[in-house]
Amino acid sequence: MSNPITPSSAEPVVTATDPIPVPVNRIPTPATTPPDILRCAYMEIVVTDLAASRKFYVDVLDLVVTEEDETTVYLRSFEEFIHHNLVLRQGPVAAVAAFSYRVRSPEDLDRAVAFYTELGCRVERRAEGYVKGIGDSVRVEDPLGFPYEFFYDVEHVERLAWRYDLYTPGALVRLDHFNQVTPDVPRAVAYMEDLGFRVTEDIQDEAGTTYAAWMRRKPTVHDTAMTGGDGPRMHHVAFATHEKHNIIAICDKLGALRMSDVIERGPGRHGVSNAFYLYIRDPDGHRIEIYTQDYYTGDPDNPVVTWDVHDNQRRDWWGNAVVPSWYTDASLVLDLDGEPKPVVSRTDDSELEVTIGADGFSYTRKGDEAQGFKLGNTL
Ligand SMILES: [Fe+2]
Repeated sequence: MSNPITPSSAEPVVTATDPIPVPVNRIPTPATTPPDILRCAYMEIVVTDLAASRKFYVDVLDLVVTEEDETTVYLRSFEEFIHHNLVLRQGPVAAVAAFSYRVRSPEDLDRAVAFYTELGCRVERRAEGYVKGIGDSVRVEDPLGFPYEFFYDVEHVERLAWRYDLYTPGALVRLDHFNQVTPDVPRAVAYMEDLGFRVTEDIQDEAGTTYAAWMRRKPTVHDTAMTGGDGPRMHHVAFATHEKHNIIAICDKLGALRMSDVIERGPGRHGVSNAFYLYIRDPDGHRIEIYTQDYYTGDPDNPVVTWDVHDNQRRDWWGNAVVPSWYTDASLVLDLDGEPKPVVSRTDDSELEVTIGADGFSYTRKGDEAQGFKLGNTL
């Protein structure tokens, strides 16, 4: 006899390896060994009003100022020991100047140069680094059009993990991940796997269209994710808190400051990653995620989780709707000359359209589509 309250076991699907179809337009795999990437380390963003952005990141989000001058602010999280996790640089166009990864050794910078040169990418190396606190580094315009940076040498600063006298209720303790918007997710994933990343979760439909994929180097759900959409653009950068209540405290503080309009989505719990989340927008519209409590992924046989794009719980475990701006808005990225990269449209199906548009509503229980998506008729 079946138990009427037994949840469906149909979703999501767990497999041993990445189930994303290999694209016909695959970027060729370089013969050279890729750099050994440790983790996402910092993002450099251009802001149009440095004072307004400093107020947002320092006075509201309580990131720690490591160093600053008239044009640039270097910020870090409470548990960080390297110089910074976020660089705010005054400039004319709000955009992202670098997605920066730390590599295991100085020799990995030579590997990065060889890897991207073989891919035919623009590659620049500066022995003195591109920003304060970072030494010898390599910047590239990667095959997807993103400004990627790799470095090993870095200035160490005080890790404030034990400085509870400085903590605030919403303290941000680590940089967790980047999220990038790109038109062709399978093409992006194949290149990122060549670079040494592993897929942990993804969203597909029954026809095999891939809408998003999460990939990691460090043993968490991701260091970066590829979100299908017009790109190259930056979807968000995420900082971790210790606990869920820290995220609630940030919401309460934003309300008390009459800044609730910067809350775009959440708080809530993700299906993908199982993490608790909040999305907010900075004064230029750059999206920041506050994120906590995903799971360990470091074993070599870590299972890959594939979500159905029509599963109403994939992006919010409680079934709350994803606001349209979350799908459509993202930040421009810059080339190595500091010029915005042209944005190419996605031609595969759009997640926004297939879940709340004309192609049909999502479901909460597979096979029970008649009950539909609880908010489907109100959107
Ligand atoms: Fe995220």
